[in-house]
Amino acid sequence: MNFVPELPNSLEQHWMPFTSNRDFKANPRIMTAAKGMYYTTDRGDAVIDGSAGLFCVAAGHGRREIAEAVHQTLLEMDYIPPFQFGHPKSFEFARRLAAVTPGDLNNIFFSNSGSEAVESALKIALAYHKARGEGERMRLVGRERAYHGVNFGGLSVAGLVNNRKAFGLGLPGAVHLRHTMLAEHNKCVGEPETGGVELANDLQRFVDLHGADQIAACIVEPIAGSTGVLVPPKGYLKRLREICDQHHILLIFDEVICAFGRTGEQFAADAFDVVPDMITMAKALTNGVVPMGAVACSDKIYETINDSAPDTAIALFHGYTYSGCPVAAAAALATRDIFEEEGLVENAAKMSPKFIEALYSLGDLPIATDVRGYGLLGGVDLAPADKPGARGYAIMKELYEAGVMVKLTGDCILFSPPLVCEEKHIDEIFTKVRGVLLKH
Ligand SMILES: Cc1ncc(COP(=O)(O)O)c(C=O)c1O
Repeated sequence: MNFVPELPNSLEQHWMPFTSNRDFKANPRIMTAAKGMYYTTDRGDAVIDGSAGLFCVAAGHGRREIAEAVHQTLLEMDYIPPFQFGHPKSFEFARRLAAVTPGDLNNIFFSNSGSEAVESALKIALAYHKARGEGERMRLVGRERAYHGVNFGGLSVAGLVNNRKAFGLGLPGAVHLRHTMLAEHNKCVGEPETGGVELANDLQRFVDLHGADQIAACIVEPIAGSTGVLVPPKGYLKRLREICDQHHILLIFDEVICAFGRTGEQFAADAFDVVPDMITMAKALTNGVVPMGAVACSDKIYETINDSAPDTAIALFHGYTYSGCPVAAAAALATRDIFEEEGLVENAAKMSPKFIEALYSLGDLPIATDVRGYGLLGGVDLAPADKPGARGYAIMKELYEAGVMVKLTGDCILFSPPLVCEEKHIDEIFTKVRGVLLKH
């Protein structure tokens, strides 16, 4: 049944997140159904999904297998406290997830979102150092232009000014590496060749300035996603790993967008051949159906924290009412089955050359000032008009009217189609986008 707002002001009560509420409520974009690669609007129009929802619907929309697993689980057992009690599905999913995480990141802590996964990872980093007798390591290193969700820990290490400026000073002692967007990389394909080691050496400078014995962890998105897809320059992540190893600093990859095939490999850690100490993930875990996030932690971290407490005592005073709750675990297990049976990571790798070619084909438009991409993730910067972000917002609305949904950050269009996409879908997305951009 289609949802049709009865009165224009019936939209008023919902305060929408990251949305210009006044403008949306004057000109709403309401979707009433979704199947495969397409949404249907309340006017009955088809809109192709160029962003996998918000990077999360990897297996395409309306997957019956996931709906049935959730339905069945709700009938069997709706809820159980995750503190001091358990149910089989969260353990089963943790085992399945640990089988695909890189290195010894075998220990899975569940949250309900990417933001909470980041908070959990930062707190685990502090708890780890405390447990091994170096509790004075309190500084967290983030990066300019990073997005690590919207909670205070994540905001403190993040670097997008609009997300930070209304909310105070953040955690004391957070410091930021320079971002990895360099003008000479414009429109370069794949990993930029230069600058990687030099940019990563910012971490060494923090060690020299503050002392390694103050620094707990360094968190980066391997590919900075929300800010506009900044692919790390060659050698960057490896150099961060080396500096962290030298100084016992934990390296956290925030793979909330990258995990589960977005790069053409299971994790960005695999794509760039660097194993961090923790990986945060969320988006494609349950195909966007039930909120869920997770942190995969190394054996060293798990053992150090858990061995620090007496047998019957709690070692980590942290967790959420819905950590690994039955429906989320059921949705995640069903999603994992689809990934494995349908080879979604492999399909992402297969579709990537076509996607990258189509993405870079937009580079000849006068409005496109830069193009960046990797795997099935791409960003196109648009020349700003009037105020920053105004043009991007106008174009997002025009694209919706033209039947394509993408995510806009400021004046950058982000592309991240579901991993089940076929060549014809990539053609459709980019043909529609080109048609709209040509009018500008
Ligand atoms: C890298 C990264 N970390 C964290 C988050 C926050 O995730 P959530 O919106 O599920 O809290 C996001 C969301 O886009 C993200 O891209």
